[in-house]
Amino acid sequence: MSSYPRLYPYEISNQLVKGCRQILKACELKEGSKLALLTATNYRQQHIVNSYYQAALDIGAEPTILMTEPYQVPGLFGKDAIKVPKIVEAAIQAADYVFFLGTNIFYTPVLDRVKAEKKPAYFAYNSEASTEWLITHYPPPYEPLVIRTDAGIELLSKCTEIRYTTPAGTDLVMGKGRRNARQDREVGFLEPSKGHTWDILAGAGIYSFFEPESCNGKYVITAGDYPTQIVDRETGFPYTGDDITFTIKDGKITKIEGGVGAKLMRRWFEAWNSEKSYILAHMGIGTDPRQRRDFEKYPFYGVSGWDGEWIEGLICLGVGYEPSHLDMMQRNGSVWFDNEKVLDNEKFVGPLSDEALGLKKPRKK
Ligand SMILES: [Fe+2]
Repeated sequence: MSSYPRLYPYEISNQLVKGCRQILKACELKEGSKLALLTATNYRQQHIVNSYYQAALDIGAEPTILMTEPYQVPGLFGKDAIKVPKIVEAAIQAADYVFFLGTNIFYTPVLDRVKAEKKPAYFAYNSEASTEWLITHYPPPYEPLVIRTDAGIELLSKCTEIRYTTPAGTDLVMGKGRRNARQDREVGFLEPSKGHTWDILAGAGIYSFFEPESCNGKYVITAGDYPTQIVDRETGFPYTGDDITFTIKDGKITKIEGGVGAKLMRRWFEAWNSEKSYILAHMGIGTDPRQRRDFEKYPFYGVSGWDGEWIEGLICLGVGYEPSHLDMMQRNGSVWFDNEKVLDNEKFVGPLSDEALGLKKPRKK
């Protein structure tokens, strides 16, 4: 550690810097390490970038902030949609750790290269409402979350078929096939010493992508769910409208039926003008019990779509590869991995239950 304090006082609060420091320490950021903080001019949370900068100084690391013009449109995915500037890739190559704050390199060859080199990279891109809340209220590490997520990913990697059901009528079978679709483990921080090279602050959970054309059934969004801001903007959190029924055939949404909510959804999908928007991309189950305690009490921090992916027991369906992608969160879900039930009405059961994992029940307040 440097013998003199290094202060970077722009728009930062002690509480936020403290949370950022906890995240950086959990990510095993070392004294003398080069940390690239990559951001863009359209990211309105520069106080968070600055807080990470100060936190890195506190640890004795060498942070660099690189702000570029935005090089993606929010919600756009795909190789053609995202052109990563050369200077950004150069900064990534020169750094020991990379944090993306309001920039996005999903589905690009640059991300493939980052992962191939096993460079620790951390992606923090949730909504303006929730980012500060997540950093200050649920800083990692949090052992129960890591234990359940690791166990879930191990199970998920072995299974070939996933099933979702809800009381509202969702009954969806999603195939992972033999090609061993990609699994993602997210706990909100990186663990390079365990070989993990990628994590996201906007998800704590277990995720899997699907075998193409493998999903079939019904998917029903009902009042109380969090089906993205497309409809939330009209109805607020959580969704209060009438049921939206998606028919899924051979991996694609083929019909969206219902009332006003369905109409909004249909319009949104049609606006992309691409068949690829209708392809089911991935599933997910949230694994953070801390958010479960709070999310109904403090709805202002947002649980819709991506922001809700941390919450223990909520099930996620990610739809669309390109040009669009959205994540819908559902309540009251039950989930099977092959024929083994792992979630029963939002509660982890069987091999992922508290008892099976040796997790103590949280004390009631
Ligand atoms: Fe997603």
